[in-house]
Amino acid sequence: MSEDVKKGLLGIVVDETEVSKVMPEINSLTYRGYAAQDLCARCNFEEVAYLILNGDLPNKKQLKKFEKQEKNERTLSKNLISILKQMPKKAHPMDVARTAVSVMGLEDKQTSDNSQKANLNKTMRILAKMPTALALFYRLRNGKKMISPKKKLSFAENFFYMCFGKVPNKDIVKAFDVSLILYAEHSFNVSTFTARTITSSLSDIHGAITGAIASLKGPLHGGANEEVMQMMKKIKKPERALKWINKALDNKQVIMGFGHRVYKNGDSRVPTMREYFKKVSKIKKDKTFEKIYDIVEKVMIERKNIHPNVDYPTGPTYHLMGFDTDFFTPIFVLSRITGWSAHIMEQHAANKLIRPLAKYKGSQHRKVLSLNYR
Ligand code: CMC
Repeated sequence: MSEDVKKGLLGIVVDETEVSKVMPEINSLTYRGYAAQDLCARCNFEEVAYLILNGDLPNKKQLKKFEKQEKNERTLSKNLISILKQMPKKAHPMDVARTAVSVMGLEDKQTSDNSQKANLNKTMRILAKMPTALALFYRLRNGKKMISPKKKLSFAENFFYMCFGKVPNKDIVKAFDVSLILYAEHSFNVSTFTARTITSSLSDIHGAITGAIASLKGPLHGGANEEVMQMMKKIKKPERALKWINKALDNKQVIMGFGHRVYKNGDSRVPTMREYFKKVSKIKKDKTFEKIYDIVEKVMIERKNIHPNVDYPTGPTYHLMGFDTDFFTPIFVLSRITGWSAHIMEQHAANKLIRPLAKYKGSQHRKVLSLNYR
């Protein structure tokens, strides 16, 4: 590969952003200047969503208005419900999420209005409706009836309620809320860059988020949280973990939930999520995955010096909460809608078409022979 080719845009700075930054001096991912772990300790997901979308933390009045708007937008159109009912039960929920947001774009009166005001309104609608759409699919494929959203419940509580018909204890809800906060935003990752690239042709937010969901699905990105759980299920018992991970590394296997393009000495979100994973394991009285977690992590650091990323603790946490494994990345979507939308608005506000170059290495100029001579 010639040196002037930056494959994977490695180390390339392509634009400026005010949304988030990894600040090495405080060893933290920050949203609009606030450390993600501090936000987890003092705020709920709705406050963080407001922060990411509007640039600052809300006061009581602003939060109330934001929550009211989100709660008012939770219901789905009859058309979308009927489309969701027709989806193959075996479809991956990420594909359902991608299709759902695309349908929302067909129905939204402001689809082609790319103003900041319209984009904020559209974001609220996507953010509020996506949990309802996913929970509906969750219930349908398990042969259960739809549960309508409840306005008196928070974003996190309502998702549990719509999936399972009840809200779990407050520590479980808090662990879920924390995972949403940690997943909300991470600068120019693959899906966000996809959203910004789509936006750069002056396309609309529904299209950009549809593309971002497709991008998040891949196992090198958001899909890793599902792969982590598949790995843990394969290992099954803590006493099998050491042999399994050593063999996998001997076979040069990529271990999901480890490594990161930006963090090379550990993902700053992991300690917070690890703590909540521990709490959920304790509440559920199941330490199996915690033990597997520790063994695999230790070997990965000792043998490869590769640390876990946030998908490593979220995978088993969602499993213990009762979610099907293929719903883990869709949960990531519920949260990352905020980060994507903030970037889409930032791109619209100072747009430049994203159009990199490629180094050509195909055939030199050739004459086209007519069909009889080829
Ligand atoms: N398991 C085994 N080896 C690894 C891993 C891993 N998880 N991650 C990196 N390496 C090795 C890789 O094989 C390479 O070795 P060598 O130089 O000998 O070829 C070296 O470390 C550098 O890795 P890379 O793939 O060139 O680094 P990258 O910055 O291009 O990739 C990554 C980053 C996240 C794609 C990669 O670490 C990976 O595939 N991880 C597993 C998937 C995963 O957990 N993704 C979630 C990412 S973070 C949260 C999110 O986006 O959802």
